[in-house]
Amino acid sequence: MAQRAHWKSKAGFILASAGSAVGLGNIWGFPKVTADNGGGVFVLVYLLCVAVVGLPVMTAEILLGRSTQKAPVGAMRTLAGKGSPWIFFGWLGVAAGFLILSYYSVVAGWSLHYTWLAVTGGIDAANPQVTESLYNELFMRSPWINVAWHMVFMGMVIGVVIGGVSKGVERWSTILMPVLFVMLGGLLVRAFTLDGFGAAVDFVFGFHFDQFTPGSALEALGQAFFSLSLGMGAILTYGSYLKRDDDIMSSAIIISALDTTIAIVAAMVLFPIIFTNNLESASGPGLVFITIPVALYKLPAGGFLAMLFFGLLVVAALTSAISMLEVATSSFIDEMGWSRRRATLLAGLGIAAIGIPSALSGSSPFFGTYMADNFGRNWFDTISYLTNNFMLPLGGLGIAVYTGWRMNEAIRHDHFLAGSRLGTFYKGWIVLLKFLVPVAITFVFLHAIGLVSA
Ligand code: PHE
Repeated sequence: MAQRAHWKSKAGFILASAGSAVGLGNIWGFPKVTADNGGGVFVLVYLLCVAVVGLPVMTAEILLGRSTQKAPVGAMRTLAGKGSPWIFFGWLGVAAGFLILSYYSVVAGWSLHYTWLAVTGGIDAANPQVTESLYNELFMRSPWINVAWHMVFMGMVIGVVIGGVSKGVERWSTILMPVLFVMLGGLLVRAFTLDGFGAAVDFVFGFHFDQFTPGSALEALGQAFFSLSLGMGAILTYGSYLKRDDDIMSSAIIISALDTTIAIVAAMVLFPIIFTNNLESASGPGLVFITIPVALYKLPAGGFLAMLFFGLLVVAALTSAISMLEVATSSFIDEMGWSRRRATLLAGLGIAAIGIPSALSGSSPFFGTYMADNFGRNWFDTISYLTNNFMLPLGGLGIAVYTGWRMNEAIRHDHFLAGSRLGTFYKGWIVLLKFLVPVAITFVFLHAIGLVSA
């Protein structure tokens, strides 16, 4: 057996994990759900969800990974024993990684395409009707453009993961994350100097209770889970490359704080641009691909800003996608004894293939209209609905319940304390994992299957 790979530095682990967390969920998702749920109150509830549900689960994932030095399947087997039903949660994570990446890569492909268009001057952003038809023409009616960009993106992800933990994942994360910070920082400076900045601050931090429903709280929790990359073993897998002497809980705090800050900064970039141009804040799924291009091109150097913005989406999506493929790759290496090369290629190409129906969901009569008419959702929407509302919460529930109720106390306590100065939080962490986290996640489920219609 080959020796388990490890991160070269603690910063490498933090940057890779923050890279996993910061993704389309922050830039594409967070501003949109914030707008849909009335702004400030939603943001406050979101922060609460990150602190009392997300953070404990992230700590648990890192701990399960570090203590076993295994990807999710092997981690559960090592702890719970051969043939234990808990191993199911490991495979659930691998399956979720396959499915999420299969459609995530399609959206990343759109971002690549828009970056390309911005560079070559191909975006006509005269008004929302024009960009809407651009979006519809390209994505809904051109199957091959979608498939091609999806393949290009999967090729990039495979190219990084095949290089291994320190020479692939860590190396690229330490390059791409600073690039992401600079791009986002540049856009924030631009947004700050716009007239709409004040209105955006009021929107994101002001309390408008009227649009906030109990359902919004569940949406905040779901968003926190997705955004923090929890529930499918991505952070667990990254944790499995840690050595014993790193502080687990303070790493989890740093990663969650970075992810949350970037989500809020993304909102503070998008809303000023939108408000300055008197555009609607919540224009459905097309916020990023329909409204934003119009708003950006109304500003001086709009083409450059658009390049920066869509390039930012690509970078954010790439570091997240790397972590999803790494879950499958690492699991196949651990479970099947495959080489990294073989595991990466088979998993990556498998995911690329499963993603084709998602890439065709706008244009194909079967994966698009037929499914939408008969099952209420096209293929793309079905996969994202199943993974976000069922697989990730179920995975998170398994991780919380196992760590809180079943895990060996000596191993758990020992690993929580190793390298840590936050030992006083141990008891509180366990209480959250045992009670609050499972109850909160159960509500998300009941809501998703329509039993709680908040
Ligand atoms: N956290 C990523 C995002 O916000 C998505 C993701 C989910 C990545 C699950 C890995 C695992 O876009």
